[in-house]
Amino acid sequence: MYVCVCNAITDKDIRRAAEAGATDLWALQSELGVATGCGSCKEMASEILHDVRRQRQVAQPQVYIPVMA
Ligand code: FES
Repeated sequence: MYVCVCNAITDKDIRRAAEAGATDLWALQSELGVATGCGSCKEMASEILHDVRRQRQVAQPQVYIPVMA
């Protein structure tokens, strides 16, 4: 599905960029060009980015390593 019509960027493009390490909207803007036109896609692009980051946190649970005093 196209998220950014101005730049022909899809949700899959955004998911791929997020999985490759994009952590915020600025990173998506510089990598993909999303939200660099009219800007109406900013909110949806951010939601997709945060969704991927949430999924990654669930998939990679934090490991607790106790520190000996
Ligand atoms: S729809 Fe993304 S900048 Fe216009």
